[in-house]
Amino acid sequence: MQFAPMTKDPRALDAHLFICTNVKANGECCGAKGAAELRDALKRLSKDPSKGWGRRVRVNNSGCLGHCEEGIVAVLYPDGRWWTGLSSVDAPQLEAAVQDALDRKKEELGG
Ligand code: FES
Repeated sequence: MQFAPMTKDPRALDAHLFICTNVKANGECCGAKGAAELRDALKRLSKDPSKGWGRRVRVNNSGCLGHCEEGIVAVLYPDGRWWTGLSSVDAPQLEAAVQDALDRKKEELGG
């Protein structure tokens, strides 16, 4: 099998948000703090036609991001911006960050 980077992928994303939804049997974890609800809210926003995000944005679960006691944890690429201490009702904060990333990308491309 050969591997190759997908640098020419026409489906390239302008914003890719990962939300840790990991559930641990013991100890603190994002899954026990409402991470699935937060992920679902962002997924709904990403698919809302009125937002116009379309295929430019993707929202995914992630496994443990290594800051379990500080969860809920999320990370946005390509910015490489991290959040800790999120709760299930913090969708507006992440929505604003995604929109900001899209706006900056649009500016880079000349408006
Ligand atoms: S369980 Fe979310 S960072 Fe570890």
